[in-house]
Amino acid sequence: MKDLTPRKIVEELDKYIIGQDKAKHAVAIALRNRWRRQQVKGELLEEIMPNNIILIGPTGVGKTEISRRLSNLANAPFIKVEASKFTEVGYVGRDVESMIRELMSIAINDVRAEMMKEVQEQAEVRAREKLIDLLYPPQPSIPNESEEDIQKRMERHNRVRQKMEKLLNDGELNDREVEILMDNPKPPHIEIFPQNGFENLDLQLGEIMAGIIPGRRDQRKKRTKVRDALRQLTEIESSQMVSREKVNAEAKRRVENDGIIFIDEIDKIVANYERSSGADVSRSGVQRDLLPIVEGSNVPTKFGIINTSHILFIAAGAFSKSKPSDLIPELQGRFPIREELNSLSQEDLKKILVYPRNSLTKQYIALFASEGVELKFTESAVEGIASFAARANEKMEDIGARRLHTIMNALLDDYLFNMPDPRITRLTVTKTMVSSKLARIIEDEDLSKYIL
Ligand SMILES: Nc1ncnc2c1ncn2[C@@H]1O[C@H](COP(=O)(O)OP(=O)(O)OP(=O)(O)O)[C@@H](O)[C@H]1O
Ligand SMILES: [Mg+2]
Repeated sequence: MKDLTPRKIVEELDKYIIGQDKAKHAVAIALRNRWRRQQVKGELLEEIMPNNIILIGPTGVGKTEISRRLSNLANAPFIKVEASKFTEVGYVGRDVESMIRELMSIAINDVRAEMMKEVQEQAEVRAREKLIDLLYPPQPSIPNESEEDIQKRMERHNRVRQKMEKLLNDGELNDREVEILMDNPKPPHIEIFPQNGFENLDLQLGEIMAGIIPGRRDQRKKRTKVRDALRQLTEIESSQMVSREKVNAEAKRRVENDGIIFIDEIDKIVANYERSSGADVSRSGVQRDLLPIVEGSNVPTKFGIINTSHILFIAAGAFSKSKPSDLIPELQGRFPIREELNSLSQEDLKKILVYPRNSLTKQYIALFASEGVELKFTESAVEGIASFAARANEKMEDIGARRLHTIMNALLDDYLFNMPDPRITRLTVTKTMVSSKLARIIEDEDLSKYIL
């Protein structure tokens, strides 16, 4: 984290997102400030508030993508919620605090997985010992045995054990069967919280999967191959070696200090988003519910109380029918930073096709390779695709880079259907191919509405 300077963050984001420099700039500062804050000593530490951000921009220009990449970079607990989820018609909506509980359970899973990985090696050593005990159980003592005989018997036992150990380590016993004791999964008991969705049920199930519930054990014997037994015993051992309290404490620390919540579609909870009076009430209601969480409050979760004061909130919305200033004033105040993202030009679209690590052309090249076809795009073909995408965005609705998906699909549809075909081993997409395939569709208003 120390090396993740704002410049470096932007550099990393540049690998995936074309343009949108101002937004990258803003999120880079916000992320770095969290690290800076944690270097501060004393009472100021509590005073420094996160730079919550609203990203404003048309659909498909990279708002969600920026946040997604940012969270990968930060290795921080991250969730994305749709603000409109909290206003579902006919139901009070999911309670807003559920996002904190969800974030916490994500952090718990991450931390637990990390800690289990740390003890993995040691756990495997233990699991191997247990397995040898099972394969070659210690023998009961024989009555009236002389000291000397005991000695001899023990030596022999140890020799065999060592041989077994070697066989086990060499994988020679992998296919042998062994009987191990497994915890029976407990039936999930559902906790009823008022206005609660299903996320608690998820938590319960997650816990059962990890088999970390101590106390009442309901065990059963199970025959399995040594190979699988080793894996299962290692898992059991490592989950026993990881303390629940430690996991909780670390997850809580991460959520409270590094957590990032991305609230998408925040423009849809503006009161006058659409004309219908009933929903207006619930929309400003959601804003009001959001406020304490963004401002900082204590939210009870299964894993303890979480203080939300320093969680970073990044909101995003198209704000085509409304403005950020239509949000209730208190909430506006909690998002001091506004950044606009521009709609994508033909030049941007062209770069998006090629440059990002996960660019569409790279994705299709990989898909074709799976069928043994070497796919290539000439530069002018890429230009052509971008130009058709830009035209389609102009003629119909501007859906940003998402248009590239539909265009590419229309372009390569025949091949995608006909592969594998021994006659197709390579394909170079040229400008001519692009034009002949797409021109007809784009000129025809009706066709383009359905296909692009
Ligand atoms: N500037 C960009 N650079 C690279 N890829 C982009 C860019 N903008 C959009 N994309 C790609 O387009 C797709 C949609 O982008 P994204 O999900 O970020 O849209 P959005 O701005 O959140 O739109 P919406 O308002 O509809 O949620 C993603 O697959 C993303 O990779
Ligand atoms: Mg989005």
